[in-house]
Amino acid sequence: MANYDVIIIGSGPGGYVAAIRAAQLGLKTACVEGRETLGGTCLNIGCIPSKALLHATHQLHEAEHNFAKMGLKGKSPSVDWKQMLAYKDEVVTTNTKGVEFLLKKNKVDWLKGWGSIPEPGKVKVGDEVHETKNIIVATGSVPSSLPGVEVDEKIVVTSTGALELPKIPKKMVVIGAGVIGLEMGSVYARLGTEVTVVEYLDAITPGMDAEVQKQFQKILTKQGLKFIMGAAVQGVEATKTKAKVSYKLKKDNSEAVLDADVVLVATGRKPYTGGLGLEALGVEMSERGQIKTDAHWQTNVKGIYAIGDAIAGPMLAHKAEDEGMAAAETVAGKHGHVNYGVIPGVVYTHPEVATVGQTEEQVKESGRAYKVGKFSFMGNGRAKAVFAADGFVKLIADKETDRILGCHIIGPGAGDLIHEICVAMEFGASAEDVAMTCHAHPTFSEAVREAALACGDGAIHM
Ligand code: NAI
Repeated sequence: MANYDVIIIGSGPGGYVAAIRAAQLGLKTACVEGRETLGGTCLNIGCIPSKALLHATHQLHEAEHNFAKMGLKGKSPSVDWKQMLAYKDEVVTTNTKGVEFLLKKNKVDWLKGWGSIPEPGKVKVGDEVHETKNIIVATGSVPSSLPGVEVDEKIVVTSTGALELPKIPKKMVVIGAGVIGLEMGSVYARLGTEVTVVEYLDAITPGMDAEVQKQFQKILTKQGLKFIMGAAVQGVEATKTKAKVSYKLKKDNSEAVLDADVVLVATGRKPYTGGLGLEALGVEMSERGQIKTDAHWQTNVKGIYAIGDAIAGPMLAHKAEDEGMAAAETVAGKHGHVNYGVIPGVVYTHPEVATVGQTEEQVKESGRAYKVGKFSFMGNGRAKAVFAADGFVKLIADKETDRILGCHIIGPGAGDLIHEICVAMEFGASAEDVAMTCHAHPTFSEAVREAALACGDGAIHM
């Protein structure tokens, strides 16, 4: 007799969600976590703490730049960095405790320690071996560095170190203009740090709609971030207090060096699967180190499943959550499902950037006839009232059927606005369906409707 129906290794958004769903479906469930708190990278050293710092520094930005315009006069607040970090830690603690509560409530056992799989149907945690009918690997990812760059998490940091720097640096070089680089770069730029982002490609946020990339870079530049584009970082030389970042420009092969107090390496993440014993079990892996799975998240070894950052696809907490639920449902004999065509992506800068479905470049390449409805937040009364009219909503629909293919938003609350289109896409809606839906006034959401109207007979407020 197996002790458990399913053991999930890892308690990040993929793992703990899989555990809760499995327990809800009546399976005897355990979740293995070696960290002292639950929640994985996202809750402990990723999404949640970074959002706390983004929130705090956005408030500072508002006080410094917009309060006086609204008749709120007085000295701008000064930064108590220690307190800001304490606030961030408090936010993390409430969230990780929340997950602990949820696991208890659902009668999921937390097996404390690092797990490995000595053989199918067995999970070893510490000295104990637990028997289980199924295993779900949800071990997530870790930052991947560059050759010639040694991370010490003090002067040369990943997102982990960037969340707890002992003091606010004067100069920071960010390697990589992806989500982490831009979110953390924004935090420090708002705190007065001189931030220079060095990016290998010619556009920021790789894979996003080109129009959004352009506008986003323009806005961030206005906010004080400097960009060196088309530049490959060659190496970082660090002392105990400073660092030098050398890079080569692709266009002419010229080399240059930047000085920094702190260097943030944000050049992507890689699956974290070491120590599990997967090679010995013969679990197939891709060349990029991802665990290979079938359409039901099962690996080539029966009874071993994998989800989240450890497998293929975007490294996003909500993608892992969806897979966690679906894999648990599959294990319980149900039909778990994830619609990979409708997974939103959000960058939590100010303004936020949010995207779902295909970019205009992707639609063009597919050869499909399409139309674009665009609406600027300049025509949105609410956005103007809160000094956030810099962005736009871009909706892409099939030219003949009017079916929505993608949506790209840069503007206030974009990360929330995008979900209207996610739901619409799940229902196979047309742009006209969104255009015909009454939207409350005055809301940012009206800009989404206006973009939908622009796909038809035209937006009203432009
Ligand atoms: P990323 O893959 O988004 O961006 C890395 C950037 O570094 C790319 O633009 C790449 O061209 C550049 N780069 C690589 N090597 C370089 C070199 N030698 N010199 C200069 N530039 C170089 O990776 P990032 O930002 O580290 O994020 C990792 C993962 O975490 C991503 O999958 C991201 O989606 C996820 N994440 C998501 C968040 C969100 O949803 N808000 C927040 C934070 C992370």
